[in-house]
This record gives sequence, structure tokens and C-alpha cells, in this order.
Amino acid sequence: MSAAPKKSFYVTTPIFYVNDAPHIGHAYTEVASDVLARWHRQRGENSFLLTGTDEHGEKILRTAAANKTTPQAWADQLVQDSWLPLLETIDIDNQDFIRTTEPRHEANVQKFLQLLFDKGFIYQGAFEGNYCVGCEEYKTEADLADGEGQFDGIRVCAIHSKPVERLKETNYFFKLSEFEQPLLDFYAANPKFIQPESARNEVVSFVRRGLTDLSISRSKEKFDWGIDIPWDDSHITYVWFDALLNYITAIGYGDDSVEAQARFAELWPATVQIVGKDILRFHAVIWPAMLMAADLQPPTQVFGHGWLLVGGEKMSKSKLTGIAPSQITETFGSDAFRYYFLKAISFGQDGSFSWEDLSARYQSELANGFGNLASRVIAMIHRYFEGALPAEGDLLEADMRIKNVAKAAVETADKAIDEVAIHEAIAAIWTLVDELNNYITVQEPWVLAKSDETRERLQTVLNVAAEGLKTLAVLMAPVTPKAAAKLWVALGQSSLGDLSAQPLSEAANNGLIAGAAIAELEGLFPRIEVAETTSGAEKPGAN
Ligand code: ME8
Ligand code: MG
Repeated sequence: MSAAPKKSFYVTTPIFYVNDAPHIGHAYTEVASDVLARWHRQRGENSFLLTGTDEHGEKILRTAAANKTTPQAWADQLVQDSWLPLLETIDIDNQDFIRTTEPRHEANVQKFLQLLFDKGFIYQGAFEGNYCVGCEEYKTEADLADGEGQFDGIRVCAIHSKPVERLKETNYFFKLSEFEQPLLDFYAANPKFIQPESARNEVVSFVRRGLTDLSISRSKEKFDWGIDIPWDDSHITYVWFDALLNYITAIGYGDDSVEAQARFAELWPATVQIVGKDILRFHAVIWPAMLMAADLQPPTQVFGHGWLLVGGEKMSKSKLTGIAPSQITETFGSDAFRYYFLKAISFGQDGSFSWEDLSARYQSELANGFGNLASRVIAMIHRYFEGALPAEGDLLEADMRIKNVAKAAVETADKAIDEVAIHEAIAAIWTLVDELNNYITVQEPWVLAKSDETRERLQTVLNVAAEGLKTLAVLMAPVTPKAAAKLWVALGQSSLGDLSAQPLSEAANNGLIAGAAIAELEGLFPRIEVAETTSGAEKPGAN
């Protein structure tokens, strides 16, 4: 008999524009998606994280021209110098990275377009309207605002504060309006399709106000950096129609090989697609409509997270408020980056970034809360038992309490991950950090060590504490992979396999082998000297 097939988990990030280098907003989406992917992998699922870059469109073309190069050369350089290195900087374990200029994408976007054209969902018509190149989006009057300063007296894009362009051309349209009712029915039948709830409500009322057909091509007379419309090469594909399809072209859509078809069948529909709320409508309205038109299933869930704010404004490339992720990781490390943004901000809400908050949480939660706990317990096993893990004796109520808190932490965190409430999962794990710190303070192993009569009690206390650390190593592996791996190695349990092989469901079950050699543990979160006056978005220590 063969084993039951592994459950699959497919999570995606948006593919990011390569007009500039990434900032911490992009990194935020990446780490959230990566924590989900790693968590599901630790559950034993076949977990697949896709990320990548969005390389077509007028914005990239103009950026390349302004830099006196071709859009392809520009994209190649940015991907090589900035976007791939980002994944190292913040420790992302992605299974694939798709670029929209790759043949596997371009060819299959054309297949998809041809299919929709043949099915009658695409027609030619006259387009007249506004376009914002910054957003790569058609704008209605409701999306505009009054300009200020140099744009006084002109209507501008409310997001970019820059004038929109007036377009009047013959384009191809996708019959989005035909999907108004099917989408509303789909939202009703799948109440968790759009999360969080506020995002869902926003999208549902938007669709209820009525959908108009979407222009999905641009005439090459205006610009030509995109994928040719297969039946009319005087037109290129609208960048969003091209970009959204990355989620299926990357996993084999349109590829006839047996492997590609098997992979597509296994991974589609995606389990959860993580996006910022700025691009929620594309993902929760246009994208499922495109899929329905092609007789494909919409993703199971689209989650729109909030914005990182700096000084009350959305951090953005175009407004020059971007902070490079490496500015943070160079001082605090990738684990702290991952932990901080996911713990400090309720996933789904906006959150303000500040260096003070980051430094304070690093110090109190990671260095003092988690790191010191691990170092102290391991140091005491060395001091009192020559580095061999002592076995547990009779358990008292205080010991049982730790074991129960550990079990509850595993259960609560696991449920929170299913709700994509990453901050709640980490908070649940932290109940164990706090409880263990408490336990050590109350049990006073250094006092128990003074007398032979309390030797057995000392063994039990350090065994219970080490088991607690083991639970923390497994639970924190998706969030702070480097620290968790160090802790796992220090616990001396290599005969149990790598940390990644420790099933999440077993995290709170006794499993450590008594007598095993505990290794020395260097500080998980070293002390960081931070200049005393750090404020706003200034880097600590910078002047
Ligand atoms: O929109 N706070 O790419 P993009 C939180 N190419 N997240 C932020 C953020 C902030 N201040 N700023 C950016 C595009 N992000 C398209 C997507 S998908 C088929 C095509 C993150 O480079 C967040 O995930 O403008 C947001 O949705 C995304 O970057 C926008 O990246
Ligand atoms: Mg953007």
C-alpha cells in the first residue's frame, strides 16, 4: 500500500515591478508568505512558495529609457542586483521565482489569451479614459484627486499625486462585466475567499456597484514593451493581464508535458495568495473572472495585508520613503526582521515602522525573552550535568503546567496560521517563552543545585525546560529559522534528524533523548549597541 499523497499548500506573493530596488514593504509580503510556507512544510505538507518579478509595462519602459538602457537589460540588472539578493537578505525559502519576460510565461500567456478570444470573452472596441503609469491602471473620475503644487488645478492620481494620461485608442476588451453576478455568487459561496473581512466587504460593495469591461491591450504605436496579442501583433497585452497569469504559468499552465500537468493539477487552485491591499481588486475581481472565463478555479483565498507606514504615509518607491531591508538586517539580522514585522503588526492591518520599536522589541522579546532563556538553560545543563541532558523524575504541578502551556501553544498557533493570523500564532508561541522564564525564576535551579537532596528535582526542572526549548525550536523554525536551527543543534538531538524534519504536531510531545550531549549555545540574539537617540525612520547609530 502506498502512503496517502501529501497535502499540498501553494502560497504566492505578488510579482514586484522592477522599476526600482525593493524596500521593507515588499520584504514584509515576502516574509509573511515565507512563514506560512515554512509552517505548512513543518506540518508535513508539500508546501510551495512562488515569488517573482513583473517586468513589462510602460513604467519599466520609461525607467529604462530614463536610465539610457533597454527594458530587458534594466530588468536583468535589477533582478540580479536587487530582487534575487532580497531573498537571501530576509531568508526566503521559495520554490520558484518567475520573471514575466521568461518564455515559459510569455508563451502561455498567449495561449490563455487565445483561449479567451476563441471563447468570445475578448472583443475589439474603442477605449477612451485615464491611465496612471505609476499604478499601471485605468482610472475613473472617482480615483482622481485635485493636484497640488506644480499640479495645482489639474486632476491627479490619488495614489501617486501625479497627472494621469488621457488615452483614446482602439483596444481589445475582456468582458469583465459578464462576471459581475458569477463573482458575487462566488464570494457568497466562499466567504473566506477574500480576507480579512474588511477587505472582503470593500470588494463585494465595489462589484455590486457594477463592473465595466476591461481594456487588456495597448496599441504598439504608443509603446511596445509587453507580450504580443497572439492574433494581432499591432497590440501588446495590458501589463496586469500578463502579470496575474504568473501564478499559473509558473506551475505549468499551458505546458503539455506530463510533469507540468501533474504539478499544475497538484498545486492549483492556490491555497492562499498574499497581496498588499493596494492591489486587492486586481486579485479578488479581475483575476478570478479571468480564471472563470478559462474554466479554471479561482484561488482558495486572497489575503490583502495592510501597509507599512513611515511617518503616517505608505512607504513607497515613488515617494522616496523606502527603507532597504538590508538596513535592518545588517544590524539586527534576518530572524529579527522576520519576527518584528510579523509580531508587531496585526496581519491585515496597517502598521507604523519605527527604529525605536524595533530596537525595543529586539531587546526585550528576542534577546531577553527568548535568547537568554535558551542560553541560561543550556548553560545550567553544562554547569550541573556536564552537558548531558538529565532525565525527568516525578512531575509536579508546575512541570505539568509547562507541558500544558506548550501543548496549548502548538494548538493555538496552528489554528491561527490557518486563519492567516500570523501575529496571533507568534503571540501564542510567546506564552511558552514567558511561562518558561517564569518557571526558571520560580524553580531556582541554581538553588536546587546546592544540595544532593534536590538533585533529582534539578534534573526534572532542567529536563522540562529543555523540552520547552525543543517545542520553541520547532514552533519558531518558520519565523526565525536561523535561531531555531542553532537551538536545535544545541539541544544535541541530531539523532532525531534535522529541525525541518520535526513534525509540528509533535512539537510539544516529550521527545528529547536523556543523556544526549548538549552543545554550547552562542547567543541567539546578540546584544546590539544602539545610539540613544533614535527617532522616526532614522537608522540607529546613523548621524
Ligand atoms: O503592484 N506596505 O508591484 P509593486 C506593505 N507588479 N506592503 C507593501 C508596501 C507597503 N508600504 N509597499 C509595497 C505591483 N508593498 C504589481 C503586482 S501581481 C500579479 C503584480 C508590497 O512592486 C505589497 O505586497 O508595486 C504590495 O501589494 C506590493 O508590494 C506592490 O508591489
Ligand atoms: Mg506599487
